[in-house]
Amino acid sequence: MSPNLQEEKLDPRVKRTRNLIQQGFMDLLAEKGFQTISVQDITERAEINRATFYAHFTLVPKGKHVVRVCDGTACHVKGSMHTYDALRERLNLAANAQTTPDLLFTIETVSCLGACGLAPVMVIDHKVHGQVTPAKAVAAIDAILAEEA
Ligand code: FES
Repeated sequence: MSPNLQEEKLDPRVKRTRNLIQQGFMDLLAEKGFQTISVQDITERAEINRATFYAHFTLVPKGKHVVRVCDGTACHVKGSMHTYDALRERLNLAANAQTTPDLLFTIETVSCLGACGLAPVMVIDHKVHGQVTPAKAVAAIDAILAEEA
């Protein structure tokens, strides 16, 4: 069997795992140079790469309520970043922080939520909010805060 045929028959999960291991090895090689790299180092790095590849996996804890503000083209031109800024200000999020210290909220941006006709769009805990304004967004957060109190 030719190498190309073998490659085509590989299960996609096997290919993905192989690629993660290779990337882990290359990352370690770049960091440590030609120092000894153990198999355990490579597998640990591959697991970290796997965890950070998928958007729903994260190495840092997320808040109980996850707010995703769309910054795709349609939403961006309709001012979605004003909403994002208003939410960050309402929750007193520190620079570069996405999650409140009490782990109640995480604020993220996403590229497109697939509801461009409702732009600007945000999603709070899987509930879509269309044609959102900064005031509407802050009101939604205040409602959750009132429920949580
Ligand atoms: S660009 Fe925001 S939903 Fe598509």
